[in-house]
Amino acid sequence: MASFPVISLEKINGEERAAVLAQIKDACENWGFFELVNHGIAPEFMDKVEKLTKEHYRKCMEQRFNEMVASKGLEAVQSEIDDLDWESTFFLRHLPISNISEIPDLDQEYREVMREFAAKLEVLAEELLDLLCENLGLEKGYLKKAFCGSKGPTFGTKVSNYPPCPKPDLIKGLRAHTDAGGIILLFQDDKVSGLQLLKDGEWVDVPPMRHSIVINIGDQLEVITNGRYKSVMHRVIAQTDGTRMSLASFYNPGSDAVIYPAPALVEKDGCQQLYPKFVFEDYMKLYAGVKFQAKEPRFEAFKNTATLGQIATA
Ligand SMILES: [Fe+2]
Repeated sequence: MASFPVISLEKINGEERAAVLAQIKDACENWGFFELVNHGIAPEFMDKVEKLTKEHYRKCMEQRFNEMVASKGLEAVQSEIDDLDWESTFFLRHLPISNISEIPDLDQEYREVMREFAAKLEVLAEELLDLLCENLGLEKGYLKKAFCGSKGPTFGTKVSNYPPCPKPDLIKGLRAHTDAGGIILLFQDDKVSGLQLLKDGEWVDVPPMRHSIVINIGDQLEVITNGRYKSVMHRVIAQTDGTRMSLASFYNPGSDAVIYPAPALVEKDGCQQLYPKFVFEDYMKLYAGVKFQAKEPRFEAFKNTATLGQIATA
């Protein structure tokens, strides 16, 4: 099997642009995932984000997590738990309106660093969307515009820590799913692994790599590209040693954005429109109840809105 794609953005604006674009195209078509290095966010800054995130976990989240484990008796489980993830999380929203100042327990320095980190990731996400446009033969800015809706895109970061788990065979760090949104940028722990993606029926490790950013494709890009790019199932295996940090930032459509396959891609090869048209918010409402199930019934449900109620309540 080909090895997991690691792509350097260093030469994207030089003579090797075509080669880098080809690597991105291959990764989007065949993996739905790739790891970016030399992406322009300074290693020292990433170290600061990591240090403050880990400090915040130890100070404010760890005890709460241990109490949850104790209250549910999770340390003594004997059979597989399929309705819970072994993770400690909170969510920061950046766009359309930041909620960082409202999140309790964050000290001022951490708040400011996360604001700055989000601003850098937003720039990177939009740069990537334009590289995808170039590869797809769509006009520059097409994907960003498709995500806009009336208030611009939605952008947020799920801050997660996966503490050591005594029974990783019985409780997943995070159960298998595809991401609902657009493009996802992940800053993951470089020492404690655990993220895996499903490729050709096998679980493949996403290798931890210092200062890299892992990119993956969400369901909305699968729809807009009419299936040229696919969102891919992934999961987190809890580890018995070490706490894994994961900062996953979701660059998603605005809630009222109307999502549908780009007409230029449908027309191009005379192929059929394979995906439905829907409002992103409606997709998210459906996703909330069926996140850990296959994505295909979600797309199908919007092709025939009469069945939407059935899948949402199944
Ligand atoms: Fe995910």
